[in-house]
Amino acid sequence: MKKIVILISGRGSNMQALLKANVANARIVAVISNKADAAGLKIAENFGIETAVVSQKDFKNRNDFDCALAKKIAHFSPDLIVLAGFMRILGKDFVARFEGRLMNIHPSLLPSFTGLNTHERAIEAGVKIHGCTVHFVTPELDCGPIIIQAAVPVLDSDSPDALAARVLKEEHRILPQAVTWFVENRLKINGLRVEIADNSAEKTPSSVFPRST
Ligand code: GRF
Repeated sequence: MKKIVILISGRGSNMQALLKANVANARIVAVISNKADAAGLKIAENFGIETAVVSQKDFKNRNDFDCALAKKIAHFSPDLIVLAGFMRILGKDFVARFEGRLMNIHPSLLPSFTGLNTHERAIEAGVKIHGCTVHFVTPELDCGPIIIQAAVPVLDSDSPDALAARVLKEEHRILPQAVTWFVENRLKINGLRVEIADNSAEKTPSSVFPRST
C-alpha cells in the first residue's frame, strides 16, 4: 500500500478526482493546504481524509514555510506527494528532499506556457491545441520530467474560462492515471524522460487525445 499526501490551495477538483478514482493499493493519508479557506479542505473532510493547513502567513520567510510544510508532510511518511492546484513555488531544498516522489498537475502542454494564466496566454498565442501535463517536480518551475499529457482543441469562440473547463476535464482524467502508474511502480525517470513500464499486454499511451470535445 502506497501512502499519498495531496497539497492544495483552493477548489480541490483535481484532489477530488483522485479521491474518487480510489487508486488500488494507494491510500490518501492527508490533504494539506497553504490556505485556510481552501474549499477543497471541506471536500477532503467529507471523504474522511485528515486535513491540515500550513500557511505562509505564519512564517517570516519562504524557507521557514518550506521547512514547516516538509515537516508536516514527513509526519505522514508518504511515498508520493501530489501537488493538485497547489499555487505556491517550493524551494530547492524542499524539492530535493522529496525528489522523485513529488508530482504536479499543470494546465498547459509543457514546455509551453509554464507559470500562471496559461489559458489566456494560449488563446493570445493563437495555438490550436492546448492541454495539461502531469510531471515530476524539479527545482525549475514546471520543467520536470513529463509523465502524461492530454490535448484539447482551442476553438475560435473560446474564452479563457471555456478553454479552462475543457482542459480541467482532462486534468481529472490524467492525474489519477499518473498516480496509478506511480503506485504500480511503472514510472522510470531517465533524464527528462519518464518511461512507463508495460506490465500487461495492454499498452496505454502517455499522450492521449480525447475522442470528442
Ligand atoms: C488546475 O487547473 C491546476 O492545473 C492548476 O490550478 C487549477 C486547480 O484546480 N494548477 P483545482 O483546485 O484542482 O480544482
